[in-house]
Amino acid sequence: MSRHLHKVVFPVAGLGTRFLPATKVVAKEMLPVLDRPLIQYAVDEAVEAGADTLVFVTNRYKHAIADYFDAAYELEQKLAEAGKTDLLEIVRSVLPAHVRCVFVTQPEARGLGHAVMCAAPVIGDEPFGVILPDDLIRTPHAGALKQMAELAAVRGCGVVAVEEVPRAQTHKYGIVDAEPISERAARLRYVVEKPRPEEAPSNLAIVGRYVLPGRVFELLRTTAPGSGGEIQLTDAIEALLHEREVLAYRFEGTRFDCGTKAGLVRATLALAREDPELAPLVGAAASG
Ligand code: UTP
Repeated sequence: MSRHLHKVVFPVAGLGTRFLPATKVVAKEMLPVLDRPLIQYAVDEAVEAGADTLVFVTNRYKHAIADYFDAAYELEQKLAEAGKTDLLEIVRSVLPAHVRCVFVTQPEARGLGHAVMCAAPVIGDEPFGVILPDDLIRTPHAGALKQMAELAAVRGCGVVAVEEVPRAQTHKYGIVDAEPISERAARLRYVVEKPRPEEAPSNLAIVGRYVLPGRVFELLRTTAPGSGGEIQLTDAIEALLHEREVLAYRFEGTRFDCGTKAGLVRATLALAREDPELAPLVGAAASG
C-alpha cells in the first residue's frame, strides 16, 4: 500500500470568534506566525506527507486563502524586473508546482464533521488526511501527518493524533479510551466529544490531525448533531472504530494551539527562538 496520502482536507470554515475583531476580515488561518500564515505551515506538512491535492473547506468570507495560493503575476513580474530573486522564490514557493488546490464551501458552520463531509465529492473512497491549521505542530524529524500516514499505510487503519492534556481541560477536546500497542500507538476502544473531567475516560485528547478512510463520509451522513448542536467528527470516528481498527497516535513533536491567543504567542516565541536574528530579541523580551 502507498505510504503517501494524496489528498488532505483543511476545514477552515469556522468563524474564528476567539480572534475577533481581527477575524471580522482576516481568516484565522491567515494569521501569521513570524512571516508565514498558519495555513502555510499546514500545507507544507501535507505536502511532506505526500499530498498532491489539497481540499480547502471554506466559507464565503475566506477568499484570502484562495488568493494566497494563487499565482501573483503582477507582484512576481515586479520582483523579477527588480532582480529580487530571493523574494520571487519566497512568493513562488508557497505551493509546489505538482500540487493542486480545490475549494469547496461549507454553506453554514455546522461543525467540524459537517465541514469534512463537504469534501466528500473530491475525496471519493480513498484514505485521506485532515489538518486543522490552528494546531501548529513542530517536529524534530518527519512532520506529524507523515508519521501518521506511514502508520496508517503499514496497518491499513485510521489514525488520529492524540496528546495528553490537563484533566481539567477534557471538556475542550475529543477524549479517547485506547489500548497501547506500541510506544506511541494505541488501539481506540471508545471516543467521546468534550466530556466533563469526571466523566472523561482518560486525559488523551484528539488534536488536529487525522488519517481516515473514505468510509467515514457515509458514517458522517448518518451522524446526528452532537455536542453543541454540531456534527462532530469524533462521533463518526466512534462509529468507525466499531467496524475497523483506528489508532490513537502520540506524535513526536510539539503542538501549539494557535486557535487561542496564548498558543499563537507561544508558537511565535518558539519559532523566533529558532531564528538566529530574532532569538536575542526573544531572550530580551523574556527577561524584560
Ligand atoms: P474551532 O472549534 O476552532 O472553531 O474549529 P472556530 O470557529 O475555527 O474558532 P472559534 O472557536 O470561534 O474561535 C476547529 C476547526 O474546525 C473548522 C475550523 O475552521 C477549525 O479549523 N470548522 C469548525 C469548520 O470548518 N466548520 C465548522 O462548522 C466548524
